[in-house]
Amino acid sequence: MILNIPTEAEIKRINELTQQLNEHNHRYYVLNAPIISDMEFDFLLKDLEALEQKYPDYAAANSPTKRVGGDITDKFEKVAHSRPMLSLSNTYSKEDIADWEERIHKAVDTEIEYVMELKYDGVAIALHYENGQFVRGITRGDGSVGEDVSTNIRTIRSIPLHLTGDFPASFEIRGEIFLPKKEFNKLNEERAKNGEELYANPRNTAAGTLKQQDSAEVAKRKLDCYLYYVLGENLALPSHFENVEKAAQWGFKVPSSRQRLIEKATSIDGIMDFINYWDIHRHDLPFEIDGIVIKVNKLSLWDELGMTAKSPRWAIAYKFKAETARTRLNKVTYQVGRTGAITPVANLQPVVLAGTTVKRASLHNADQIAKLDIREGDLVLVEKGGEIIPKITGVVLEERPVASQPLQYIQNCPECGTELIREEGEALHYCPNEIGCPPQIKGKMEHFISRKAMNIEGLGSETVAGLYDKGLVKDVADIYDLKFEQLLGLEFSVGDEESGEIKKRSLQEKSVKNLLEGLDASKNVPFERVLFALGIRFVGETVAKKLVKHFKNIDALQTASREALLEADEVGEKIADSILFYFSEEKNRTIIRRLKEAGLQFESLANESAAASDKLKGLTFVVSGVFTNFSRDGIKESIEANGGKVSGSISSKTSYVLAGDDMGPSKRKKAEDLGVKIISEAEYIALIEN
Ligand code: IVH
Repeated sequence: MILNIPTEAEIKRINELTQQLNEHNHRYYVLNAPIISDMEFDFLLKDLEALEQKYPDYAAANSPTKRVGGDITDKFEKVAHSRPMLSLSNTYSKEDIADWEERIHKAVDTEIEYVMELKYDGVAIALHYENGQFVRGITRGDGSVGEDVSTNIRTIRSIPLHLTGDFPASFEIRGEIFLPKKEFNKLNEERAKNGEELYANPRNTAAGTLKQQDSAEVAKRKLDCYLYYVLGENLALPSHFENVEKAAQWGFKVPSSRQRLIEKATSIDGIMDFINYWDIHRHDLPFEIDGIVIKVNKLSLWDELGMTAKSPRWAIAYKFKAETARTRLNKVTYQVGRTGAITPVANLQPVVLAGTTVKRASLHNADQIAKLDIREGDLVLVEKGGEIIPKITGVVLEERPVASQPLQYIQNCPECGTELIREEGEALHYCPNEIGCPPQIKGKMEHFISRKAMNIEGLGSETVAGLYDKGLVKDVADIYDLKFEQLLGLEFSVGDEESGEIKKRSLQEKSVKNLLEGLDASKNVPFERVLFALGIRFVGETVAKKLVKHFKNIDALQTASREALLEADEVGEKIADSILFYFSEEKNRTIIRRLKEAGLQFESLANESAAASDKLKGLTFVVSGVFTNFSRDGIKESIEANGGKVSGSISSKTSYVLAGDDMGPSKRKKAEDLGVKIISEAEYIALIEN
């Protein structure tokens, strides 16, 4: 067995690179003042990656290479907060703020300094540091117990992993993780292109991202973080403002006075001035805020003022009202979604709201329309809160035109004429004509080619919709019959929904080649994704995986009885009936036959021995080192295929550490300290073959 031990010079280089990369990260993501190019940065990073790959035991948990992610967290561990994460009492009224200020004044009877900050609309986080090293990041949870999301936190570049300056040996700092508007819009643009449902707002997207299991996915999202609260018994400085300023010297991204993100005041006028400034300018910020937080600056007063049941008396939040505008509702139209769901849409007299021109708003469903008695021609109130789609919140009844008539909700599909259905307890109307209604067919095709499904490079949702409109493809199987000559020079009209402008686009030789190559490449997409791509109702990514694991090939699935379907993991009656319905349609069976002929994968590739058992059910493995009979990924797949779980780090919950040839000494020590059994590859094979 060869142990890889670096030379002195290599250790020095690892340390040097780590330090340089940390510094450049800080310059770029916190100070906004880089001194090297992205390319130079990447070179340094690659150097460090290469050294870490050669000497895995020398790759620190806080290495700058962790910024790109890769570690998987199976289950986020629950951790108790050092002190509860409280909420702020909040109000929409400026009078309440003035009352609060007066109460504080009366209670303490000295001149008081206040600090005003933005109320970031994101996800609260508690970060722990020891000896200048990031050790843990915990979500708010229920305020007392949160979840350890450290692996994902390491990918957020503006959060320092190593501190500089005179930081306390052990402390906690809290702040808000958010997704900048630009990143949120980029993400949604890509989702629109892939025919995926759009995310509603940056806050929920940030929260969802932070709980992703694959940290590499988190790294791609480019989350950001402002810190606003240093915690500790014996903080060196006596005021909140000074502590926040100090945290900047340690390397944290904190609000800067220069940009007026934080400010001090000694009177209600100063507080109001800050509130009024941001009420107007908040739309210019690169991230979303939902209000202003006002805090008493002096820490000794925090104890003096104390707490109410849930929130401290030394702080209060002023929340901005969602912006509203009044405008005329010209017409209600109806959109048919990919699943056949009908959404009523208000077409409005264009009006400027929260910095953008609004022409359309969602009316949600028939009940909502009836509840507000919304009619065409009404003067309506439009509101834009945290969501991207504005909504109608009311009607100005005094202004209702005399001849106005209650709105008659449509009974037939506006696209194919089929009578709409509305199931018991459902809010939405549906068009049941799944296989004959154009938007549903187009939607099915868009789903089929999307990234998580067949991921066909060179074929976007606009092209596929254009091909359908031209009659070149009528279903997903037709896509694989497309020929070079048919596609070359083909012209599409691409409509811009917002402006209503129609643009012409034609397919050039290069795009056609890309498209055909993309189709060819998609023939290697594994069966589970092909099954997901078919768009069988209720068969999402996870269910598709379970079905493939259980049935192995399409023939077995297609001929399975209801009872047989119900035996598969995660398949309940609703899913079983949907699968049966799908295969009962002649048209669907034909599509599958043709896709098979085109060469798509309809069989599981997992080999029999690997995919066979649940012998490892309930066991969690940590894998370390190099193996003889498996690749590193291969052994992880084998564990999962036999019902076990793979975790990235050793804890008391680990059942076995599976040690390959050169397992690192630090992992071995940790396993021994925690009393976790270490087994060899041979012992593992015995375990699954036994
Ligand atoms: S101070 C006890 N400052 O608002 C108060 N909170 O309802 C500690 N928030 O959970 C928090 N911006 O997630 C503070 N500048 C700011 C904030 C802020 C956003 C969030 C935070 C907290 C919630 C309070």
